[in-house]
Amino acid sequence: MNEALLSILRDKGTGTAEFRRASDQLASLVSAEMLAKLTTPLQGIETPVGSADGAASPDDVMFVPIVRAALAMLPAFIEMVPAAPVAFLGIERGESTALPNIYYQKFPPVLPAIAVIIDPMLATGGSATMAVDVLVGRGLDVENIYFAGVIAAQYGMDVLAEKIPRSNITVAAIDPDLNDKKYIVPGLGDYGDRYYGT
Ligand code: PRP
Ligand code: URA
Repeated sequence: MNEALLSILRDKGTGTAEFRRASDQLASLVSAEMLAKLTTPLQGIETPVGSADGAASPDDVMFVPIVRAALAMLPAFIEMVPAAPVAFLGIERGESTALPNIYYQKFPPVLPAIAVIIDPMLATGGSATMAVDVLVGRGLDVENIYFAGVIAAQYGMDVLAEKIPRSNITVAAIDPDLNDKKYIVPGLGDYGDRYYGT
């Protein structure tokens, strides 16, 4: 997607300010690529010198950031579809188990048909599949559930692709491994810690 921005994020020498800047720019690219999959055809646009066919942004979509790290990416998505409702899911991996625990949910009263789960890191896939289960439990069709992130481990990618169509998943990079703490390798470390300076 953009190798230079990704390299800034990966570099352990990158400080908080530079990490945020690169993350914000990459989130714009990820959101544009993700939302291009959801545009609907638009015909007969009158330009000053003729007519053209094109595409319209989706109007039946909600964004579902997995708190906390995904809050870094949310503004880029809202910028693209300013009217889209946002559902928040608080899901945190246990430090020793790496198993996801859901501690917070806040959904709009009326759910759009399409959901985009946002999370920069897809490692074991546990958090993302838990988010999918929550959305399916609220009546969404798996065909209408999308995922947008920055780095996926191949393992997590395969786990999530058993739940939603693989073509619904947009990430900037797929990395080969997970370490014994279930961090993505080579990855970039802990996204939330690096973005928020904790
Ligand atoms: C990170 C990341 C994902 C999850 C990915 O969050 O933002 O939510 O881990 O790992 P998984 O695919 O193995 O579930 P974390 O639980 O560290 O919380 P944070 O967002 O507060 O950093
Ligand atoms: N969460 C992160 O922030 N990084 C990883 O590598 C795995 C989970």
